[in-house]
Amino acid sequence: MPKILVIHGPNLNMLGKREPEVYGSEGLEEINTRLAERAEALNVTLDLFQSNHEGQIVDKIQAAVSQCSAVIINPAAFTHTSVAIRDALLLLEVPIIEIHLSNIYKREPFRHKSLITDIATGQISGFGSQGYLLALEAAVNLI
Ligand code: DQA
Repeated sequence: MPKILVIHGPNLNMLGKREPEVYGSEGLEEINTRLAERAEALNVTLDLFQSNHEGQIVDKIQAAVSQCSAVIINPAAFTHTSVAIRDALLLLEVPIIEIHLSNIYKREPFRHKSLITDIATGQISGFGSQGYLLALEAAVNLI
């Protein structure tokens, strides 16, 4: 079965409590549960990973080289700052789907710039937690 790596960046472990008017009321566990259910129906396995630490995310991406068929990543704040995560993603030869719960282009100007978008296969932004399911469907179609 193809394996899809799902990476949740910093502060996404606080979903549900964190600015619910921006990010919604669902917690990360609920999102992961819904993703896992959909993955089972689509006959793929998921590796679900969350970290608040840039280096741990880099390590996880490096370990995924040749091990996964696609990556879904919400780099959270690192979207706008991390050359290291961008460079690690460049090691991969599989589809990369960038996802954001909020529409980053409707927010503060510093969020309009993503260091990931131009190396990703595509981006989903602004559909809340449903975006993860859209990303999963996109990943499965691309595999
Ligand atoms: C986010 C948007 C980022 O700007 C922010 O730093 C996040 C979450 C989103 O999912 O909308 O932490 O990636």
